[in-house]
Amino acid sequence: ASDSEMQLIKIHEYMTDLYHHILMHTNEGESALKYLEDRGFTPDIIRKEKIGIAPDMRDFTKNALSDKGFSLELAFQAGIISRNEENFSYYDRFNGRIMIPIRNHQGYIVGYTARSVDGREPKYLNTPETSIFQKRRLLYNLSDARKDIRKQDEVILMEGHLDIVKVKMTSVGNVIGLMGTALSEQHIQSLHRLASNVTLMFDGDDAGQNAQLSLGSNLLEAGLNVYIAAMPKGMDPDEYIEKNGKEAFENLVKNEKRHYVHFKAESLLKESMNNDMAFSNNIRTLTEHLKYVKDQVTKDRLIQHISQLYKIDRQSIEQNVPAPASGYT
Ligand code: GTP
Ligand code: MN
Ligand code: MN
Ligand code: MN
Ligand code: MN
Repeated sequence: ASDSEMQLIKIHEYMTDLYHHILMHTNEGESALKYLEDRGFTPDIIRKEKIGIAPDMRDFTKNALSDKGFSLELAFQAGIISRNEENFSYYDRFNGRIMIPIRNHQGYIVGYTARSVDGREPKYLNTPETSIFQKRRLLYNLSDARKDIRKQDEVILMEGHLDIVKVKMTSVGNVIGLMGTALSEQHIQSLHRLASNVTLMFDGDDAGQNAQLSLGSNLLEAGLNVYIAAMPKGMDPDEYIEKNGKEAFENLVKNEKRHYVHFKAESLLKESMNNDMAFSNNIRTLTEHLKYVKDQVTKDRLIQHISQLYKIDRQSIEQNVPAPASGYT
């Protein structure tokens, strides 16, 4: 990071410690701390992640930073305070929210995702785009997960930040998240450098399932091996762990990964059965996906799965698998 970027990072390091102190040791933090503990987050993980609370005041952050001698102009550039563009006065961006620090790939804190605790909208408020907080470059938790990712040659990608924090209380260490659901070219490049296998474990609601299917095909087309570890309907990883325990979650991660194409074949099956047009379209979609499956044994097994599920000859699937597009290896 450059000198000016380090200054923005220093602001975050300072405020993160302060927000964390307020959460753990003051009345101002009491109800948020109870909220987190009720959701199963232990003091240990809260300390490890340096989760905090931004007090519900208009000028808390602004005053804390200027008392400490930080420039408010820089704090504004860091995205931690806002500016009134009519009179150029500064005021806090985050009020009464749980502050979850976001680290860049080197482990420096560069922003926050901030959850409301009183039903205030939006539920999550993020740091805006800044020179150090660029959503298209960031992968949440990468600095902690990198070692496990390399060791296992696998990335587990999740939707929610608190899902990832909860998973960090288990023995599963190779979990990362996007900032939102948009997958950028930079993300794809980072993922490629990290591992050959990506497992998606998105929320079991419609939004999560749709995002998972569309992201999965992008990753497959980018040349990665893509698997789905499906959540039960309506559950996210955090809720799964709370309901079933760490061990059940660890077993699910270990034992229940279906290839993206296998998962998709199953999820498209129902609508294909009484609808011949959907049947044809879905077979076409699946054979399109198959051309990006590089491993011959895997491809062969997938063709066998589809042929059984859809009750068609394997030859007729094989004939329809287009040759791989050039440019991907
Ligand atoms: P909890 O309700 O705290 O368990 O959060 P969650 O992770 O289950 O949230 P949800 O499933 O609603 O959303 C998943 C992810 O989408 C969150 O972690 C956020 O990154 C993002 N998200 C959800 N709501 C908002 C929002 O209001 N604004 C923004 N910017 N992102 C959101
Ligand atoms: Mn969700
Ligand atoms: Mn969720
Ligand atoms: Mn949740
Ligand atoms: Mn099956």
